[in-house]
Amino acid sequence: MKSFLHYFAGMALGLGLLIQSASAQTFPPFAELKPQNALPDPLTMLSGSKVETVREWETKRRPELQQLFQHYMYGKLPAAPQMVDAKTLFTNAKFLDGKATLRELSVRFSLPGVKANAPSWSKHTLHVLLITPNDRLTPAPAFVTMNFCGNHSIVADEQVKIPENWVYKSCKGVENDHATAAGRGSQADVWNVDLIIAKGYAFASFYSGDIDPDTADFGDGLAGEMKPDLQFAPDDPGAIACWAWGYHRVIDALEKQVAAKAANLNLKQVAAVGHSRNGKTTLLAAAMDPRIALAIPTQAGCGGTAPSRFLRGESDKQVESVKRINTSFPHWFCDEFTSFNDDPMRLPFDQNCLVAICAPRPVLFANAVEDGWANPDGQLEVLKAAAPVYALYGKRGIDANAKPEVDKVIGQELGYFIRPGKHSMNRQDWEAFLQFAEKHFAPN
Ligand code: GCU
Repeated sequence: MKSFLHYFAGMALGLGLLIQSASAQTFPPFAELKPQNALPDPLTMLSGSKVETVREWETKRRPELQQLFQHYMYGKLPAAPQMVDAKTLFTNAKFLDGKATLRELSVRFSLPGVKANAPSWSKHTLHVLLITPNDRLTPAPAFVTMNFCGNHSIVADEQVKIPENWVYKSCKGVENDHATAAGRGSQADVWNVDLIIAKGYAFASFYSGDIDPDTADFGDGLAGEMKPDLQFAPDDPGAIACWAWGYHRVIDALEKQVAAKAANLNLKQVAAVGHSRNGKTTLLAAAMDPRIALAIPTQAGCGGTAPSRFLRGESDKQVESVKRINTSFPHWFCDEFTSFNDDPMRLPFDQNCLVAICAPRPVLFANAVEDGWANPDGQLEVLKAAAPVYALYGKRGIDANAKPEVDKVIGQELGYFIRPGKHSMNRQDWEAFLQFAEKHFAPN
């Protein structure tokens, strides 16, 4: 009997592997993909067959799109770790004149991809800044964000850790590529935590460099730790996929806080926010994890919220192209994505399909009038071309004839906001984010 079971189990395993490799082979090489000038229909399978029900969407097309984006563009997100451990480093219950509690968590995780029976801790530690409102009676909805300059740049509290690894030169207080105490609180006007707390929301943030410093060194982040020989496959994850995985680990840590009754959070109302390259990450993170109930990628542009195709024949000079982004930032996407440098029309999807994966969850794109590089007009087209999937759920999404209105959030579950000014995140943006979140989360 034992040997029969063994034989049977072996067959099942063999069959499983066959099915797995068969599904991997269903994705044609670049040269066999047909060019499509318009944004591809999210409801048409790669095979050409049309999806007509929520069930077909959820069981067939949505998983196919999740795989397609990982195969051709971002690389495969690392598997969820087997072990996650979150330790509270400090608690300040008197933050913002007693209106909020500030804590920092140190989150360790096991290295993804290591065999089930032998997980080992990754050398990366995620520091999560968590700020919760004190006078809220019901569990607080939470914004989960990824920051550019380190948690210490968000608030001036001296207990907050300063990142020890590489940090962008443009961040205040950075010397020799490393952050210093001079950067404490320097990004307070970007994050507007006082406003978020006043509206009864919690705020969590992590520095992208805790997962993967944004350098073209492929060895200094999580992907390099998973493949120490640095022999990457065409669909191994780029930095954006690893950062998106970081958002998911923050939610793991928040779940632990709630389970331990250490923070009163409503985890059914987690909104992810990120600016620019971090916004590209936000949208991918939301598409890959339904625990993100609402997504706000802001001024994210090419590789995020803007189309990879040129819809109106824009030249590289006006809006960022696939070739330009892959050349300037070779570590953001998977290697396979470079095949599309000169022919993005062959992509079997466009960013409208990434938004569609999030349906029926609300998504807001935020933009700035002077940030043409991020292609605000193209972004509105992307939202409109995601709407058919929202319609499948009986949601309005955004109307096909919607026009941008400066200083105003337009649309329903698919929102679009544009304000005057440049590429940045500011208080006016947060007012719009909060308005959008309140519309979809309240009353709670
Ligand atoms: C560059 C890049 C954009 C990116 C932006 C940012 O401008 O070309 O793709 O969004 O940096 O992250 O600020």
